[in-house]
Amino acid sequence: MYALAVIALAAQQAPEPEIDWDKEFGVEQAERDPVTGEIPVEPYEQSNANAGATPFAGNGMARAFNGQDGIRRITARLIELNLDDPRIADIFVAHDMVRLQRTLFEQFCFILNAGCDYTGRDMAASHRGMGSRMADMNALVENLQQAMREEGVPFAAQNRFLGKLAPMSGDVIER
Ligand code: HEM
Repeated sequence: MYALAVIALAAQQAPEPEIDWDKEFGVEQAERDPVTGEIPVEPYEQSNANAGATPFAGNGMARAFNGQDGIRRITARLIELNLDDPRIADIFVAHDMVRLQRTLFEQFCFILNAGCDYTGRDMAASHRGMGSRMADMNALVENLQQAMREEGVPFAAQNRFLGKLAPMSGDVIER
């Protein structure tokens, strides 16, 4: 009884513990660029070669995806579906979705030959340390298929695009 009272008293008097915000909440505390809203990343060399695939020839694929507007809707929807997906949401929540929306759009737009350059990091650097598995990749592909279906992308064009992404899994999957 006495011991309990002492503990209760000590708890009342204990000073607020110091919180190291940077250590505990590194991502949330990081300064976002006031213009772009993105969290800055370590410097890297920008190149379309970082996109991980060469673009399709001609404008057929860009048209099948409804041009840049369609690609923007698909990438935004893909991110939304991933964040809502209990299988993989945890991998995404800790990262900067503002930057991902921009870089993923650029990458898809570049590969679909819809008139963009890709300015993001290469696939190995982008996914290092995430511990992604094949099952995570499959979940992401399912979500992408849903996003493309909702946009009305013809099935054959969906599969041609997925064929460009498939070889990247070697750089994305870590275990
Ligand atoms: C072929 C499949 C994939 C492609 C084409 C792809 C594409 C990309 C691109 C373009 C970026 C941004 C690079 C940058 O910030 O410079 C990125 C980052 C990211 N990807 Fe993927 N990705 C793929 C698979 C996956 C998978 C399977 C997961 C997890 C389930 C995942 C989770 C993430 C996360 C969380 C980021 C943010 C990284 C950061 O902010 O540091 N990706 N991805």
